[in-house]
Amino acid sequence: MKIRIAALSTGAAAIVATALYAQAPEEAPAVATASTAAASWAKVYEVFSHPRCANCHVPEDGRPRWSGASYGLAEGEWTYHAMNIHGGQSRIGLESIPCSTCHTAENSETPHGPPGNPVWMLPPVEMTWWGKTSQEICEQIKDPARNGGRSLEDVADHVAHDELVHWGWEPGPGREPAPYSAAEISAALVDWAGAGAPCPNDAE
Ligand code: HEC
Ligand code: HEC
Repeated sequence: MKIRIAALSTGAAAIVATALYAQAPEEAPAVATASTAAASWAKVYEVFSHPRCANCHVPEDGRPRWSGASYGLAEGEWTYHAMNIHGGQSRIGLESIPCSTCHTAENSETPHGPPGNPVWMLPPVEMTWWGKTSQEICEQIKDPARNGGRSLEDVADHVAHDELVHWGWEPGPGREPAPYSAAEISAALVDWAGAGAPCPNDAE
């Protein structure tokens, strides 16, 4: 133990390491490393690109997607939301049929009935995740101009507390929920941010 601490440079790192060892002598320090950060981001991407999230985080065409096993579709297959639904500029369908005509505050109890939440609308165009790679979403979620002006702490907080995000883990009968949990994904975001928020390089 003493040898490992002495091997670190003196100063802040050694103080942090000493404090961590002092708290949990049996465990390695809970400092995010490059490899835990990559694993944490991979979990976040798995959720953000999951049908329960990506079906709604769609581009400027304003057309929510239907994808995932509950639609009888294999991975990679998808259709546009049936009934020619468009979010329009308003992103809530004011220009055609408002989302709230069918999507109420609660999930329908019938399989294939409309899922529900007090807020049901498309996210702003700059928050598009549909069809984007891990690297693309990673870079965009760090960019306040494309994430609603949020710090990474705010993004983690949004995942931890937003009711509409939580819907992805309680999506109503028959629909497969997003993997992990909101708390795990929020923690993964904190871990990844703490290690400098590295993004994968898709070209590699
Ligand atoms: C005419 C009724 C109707 C309107 C209007 C409507 N929806 Fe839907 N929506 C549904 C139904 C029904 C489903 C579920 C279909 C199923 O599970 O087979 C659904 C599913 C969805 C899904 C997929 C959820 C998932 O992950 O499985 C999204 C996203 C969605 N709607 C977004 C919207 C948005 C955004 C609007 C407004 C711009 C909207 N819908 C307007 C009826 C409607
Ligand atoms: C019914 C549509 C809908 C679904 C489904 C949905 N979102 Fe969103 N999402 C939104 C809207 C609307 C906003 C904009 C809210 C804001 O900025 O305050 C948003 C914003 C966000 C943000 C803010 C930062 C950013 O750059 O996007 C995060 C993080 C997020 N959603 C995570 C998720 C996750 C994780 C899921 C799935 C578990 C999910 N969302 C499912 C509509 C949706």
